[in-house]
Amino acid sequence: MTVTVLMVAEKPMLAESIAKLLSDNQANKRKGWNGACSVSEYMGSFMGQNARFKVTSTCGHVMTTDFPLKFNNWDRTDPTELYSSPTVKIEANPKLKMVDYLASEAKAADYLVLWLDCDKEGENICFEVVDAVRNSMKRPMNGNFMDVVYRAHFSAITEKDIKAAMRNLGRPDINMSLSVDARQELDLRVGCSFTRFQTKYFQGKYGDLDSTVISYGPCQTPTLGFCVTRHDQIVQFKPEPYWVLQTTFTTASGEEIRPEWERGRIFDREVAQLFLERIKKAKTATVVEITKKEGRKEKPMALNTVELMRVASSYLGLSPQTTMTVAEHLYVSGYISYPRTETTSYPPNFDLVGTLRMQANDSKWGHIARNILEQGVQKPKKGEDKGDHPPITPMKPSNGQLSGDSARVYDYVTQHFIATLMGPCIYEITTIRLKCGEEELTLQGRDTIVPGFTEIMTWLAVEDERRMPNFKRGDTLTLKEAELADRETSPPSYLTEAELISLMEKHGIGTDASIPVHINTICQRNYVTVESGRRLIPTKLGISLVHGYLRVDRELVLPTMRSEVETQLSLIAKGQADYLAVKNHALEMFRLKFVYFVKNIPLVDTLFEASFTTLSEAGKPFSRCGKCHRFMKLVEAKPQRLFCPACQETYNLPSSKDGILRTYGDRKCPLDEFDLVYWQGPGGKLSRSFALCPFCYNNPPFEGMRNGDGCDKCSHPACPHSFMKNGVCGCLMECGGVLVLDPMSHPKWRLCCNRCSSVVGLFEGALKVKVTDKNCDECNSQFVSVDYKDKSPLPEGKTSFKGCIFCDQAVKECINLNHAYLDEEARQKSIQSGRDRGRGRGRGRGGPRGRGRGR
Ligand SMILES: *[C@@H]1O[C@H](CO)[C@@H](O)[C@H](O)[C@H]1NC(C)=O
Ligand SMILES: *[C@@H]1O[C@H](CO)[C@@H](O)[C@H](O)[C@H]1NC(C)=O
Ligand SMILES: [Zn+2]
Repeated sequence: MTVTVLMVAEKPMLAESIAKLLSDNQANKRKGWNGACSVSEYMGSFMGQNARFKVTSTCGHVMTTDFPLKFNNWDRTDPTELYSSPTVKIEANPKLKMVDYLASEAKAADYLVLWLDCDKEGENICFEVVDAVRNSMKRPMNGNFMDVVYRAHFSAITEKDIKAAMRNLGRPDINMSLSVDARQELDLRVGCSFTRFQTKYFQGKYGDLDSTVISYGPCQTPTLGFCVTRHDQIVQFKPEPYWVLQTTFTTASGEEIRPEWERGRIFDREVAQLFLERIKKAKTATVVEITKKEGRKEKPMALNTVELMRVASSYLGLSPQTTMTVAEHLYVSGYISYPRTETTSYPPNFDLVGTLRMQANDSKWGHIARNILEQGVQKPKKGEDKGDHPPITPMKPSNGQLSGDSARVYDYVTQHFIATLMGPCIYEITTIRLKCGEEELTLQGRDTIVPGFTEIMTWLAVEDERRMPNFKRGDTLTLKEAELADRETSPPSYLTEAELISLMEKHGIGTDASIPVHINTICQRNYVTVESGRRLIPTKLGISLVHGYLRVDRELVLPTMRSEVETQLSLIAKGQADYLAVKNHALEMFRLKFVYFVKNIPLVDTLFEASFTTLSEAGKPFSRCGKCHRFMKLVEAKPQRLFCPACQETYNLPSSKDGILRTYGDRKCPLDEFDLVYWQGPGGKLSRSFALCPFCYNNPPFEGMRNGDGCDKCSHPACPHSFMKNGVCGCLMECGGVLVLDPMSHPKWRLCCNRCSSVVGLFEGALKVKVTDKNCDECNSQFVSVDYKDKSPLPEGKTSFKGCIFCDQAVKECINLNHAYLDEEARQKSIQSGRDRGRGRGRGRGGPRGRGRGR
């Protein structure tokens, strides 16, 4: 008998690599039916039976936590309800159809082996996979499904690691998974309630916040808090004047030296002046002592994630997000070990020498590696074992295969690894003490004796400071110049990203996996900007928010609360705390805070009032409101919207980044009497453009319309602006959309698809183009009527035409189909069918055109 074993990894490439390694390259790969995954199959044995192995993957999380649909309407749901409303697990990416896909691949499988990444998220995905395949796998004899489910534990995609994992299968850990469930639910409820409440509150009042969403998050907000705290220190800093004595002496051989004054800074000008006089009076200095001392710079501990992100930010100039994406890619391609780990000590059985030997031929540091191999590796520094994954190390040589950021991150990981096997950097500090009258001065220099690990981490090398003059005790120097330098104490600088990462780590905000996400979020929300040297400077919005929270409830910003929650969550993971008890306790705490925040929002608002322009002051009169018939103002900041000062309502519009908004005469929406406005996307005559009603755009009037739809998607049967009136035929790309006449496109008239970006140019230069009520018998598209003033391109000098633009050969030259097909394949297909069956009909049949008007 042959059993079937389904194995699931976290990424398609991992599935492929795992299958290759386990089958000694005998696996056959095919594409999965969902298009995103692949399946590799091979024969082998499992639990002493002949087995067919199928190795496939997810693409990260299969599911995500969300509210049921009706709670996702911001207008109809009171955010306080979000603490008690149900939550549901929905597919993380519905397009991938991951649940159906996994279920179909699991059909009739006897065993399941989970190869998800070995961290908390991976453990959580294990159970998502289990849920997806539970009903399509074979039932085990005794009926307990979890008996046939195994978990592989591995840290690198190497033959040794993967085969060892296969020999030592364990079980998935429900408690680790539950801790992720708890965190997801907490973040969802807390994040959404605060975010929705304050977004609505502030967007409804101010016009220049410049952020579409005013988000709150239990991690992102403390992260922002660190940046604002530093900003406050800088703003509140009061510089203090101080004085330093600066002297220049000449040696007997005529060399000039500038020693440091032992007293350093003097904060009293008169006192400083007194010392200056003394020195000037003394005129000479004598060498009283020369000492030499050994200095050491210790090598780093083995590399973990946080250190990788820190160094990448400060030395490579890469954001943590970019760093982790690159590192992930290097891991999946087998170049480095798993890049998410907190551990900084190598496991006892780690093959240091073998790993180093792989670098022996490298063009940049092969000589260093060979040297270490010859002389023997030095014992790595003792780090900490957090019980997750081994430190990040190279797994194979790069052989010049990598470039760009991948090469830079790989190089750093490798340099760091090699450095941990080298000795410390040893240098000599020479100090020369001088006496000038009663005043003491010193001169100090450093010389490297043994570069040690700085030979490979060259940026940490001790700079050999100025060559020291060859003095001996009793030598005399002549004072050449002495003066007082005016200085001021200076404020600290803005936080660097690397410092922020350290603060987050220290205070337990986020995990090594989520730190880059939180930093990225506060940038995207326009709360901070990243300036040169990757320093984070909070914006007016970020500062106002944090100051507001501090006024209402300091704990919303302080890192203490979050780190307490993180501690509780890790107790769930370790099986030392009950999932429900922890989750409910944390939720209740946040609910109380939320209610209190809502009640006290005016305290925050006074800060916003001082910094931002209210909607009534912002913007310029633009178009009329359908409710009060007065002019509404166009607020162009992000998000672009119309604000009616009389009704105190706002209406979102397409983003100003994506196109231009214009008024559209006094055309009105027949449903609500709002002035229609007209939007044109970028790209000139090839762009999509449409009219829209500001009210309908936010409150879709008909079934099948969505938030954000314009008149070209409106199915109003009688309105002259709807696609029911202006649609000509189904999109030639067969995307399901309709080609709609753009009534504002004179003189370069065109039809734009209301779904994809396909465009048909027609009757260029015509005075008028209209879609009529009649349709073509042959192809079912609407007749179009055209009028030219003079210079008509129509046959026989006619100035007007009415008929089918596809079937009537007479106007063929006036129709430009160059941009009607977005890809070459569709164009070729159409040309083919045109040749075979006559153009109009070929396209019309089965018709997108038939569907077009939906009548
Ligand atoms: C390094 O080069 C030598 C000689 O070309 C070769 O024998 C050895 O296998 C190479 N080592 C690695 C790790 O590629
Ligand atoms: C999970 O945690 C609970 C406590 O909440 C504990 O009783 C149970 O033994 C743990 N299970 C495992 C498999 O560790
Ligand atoms: Zn109004």
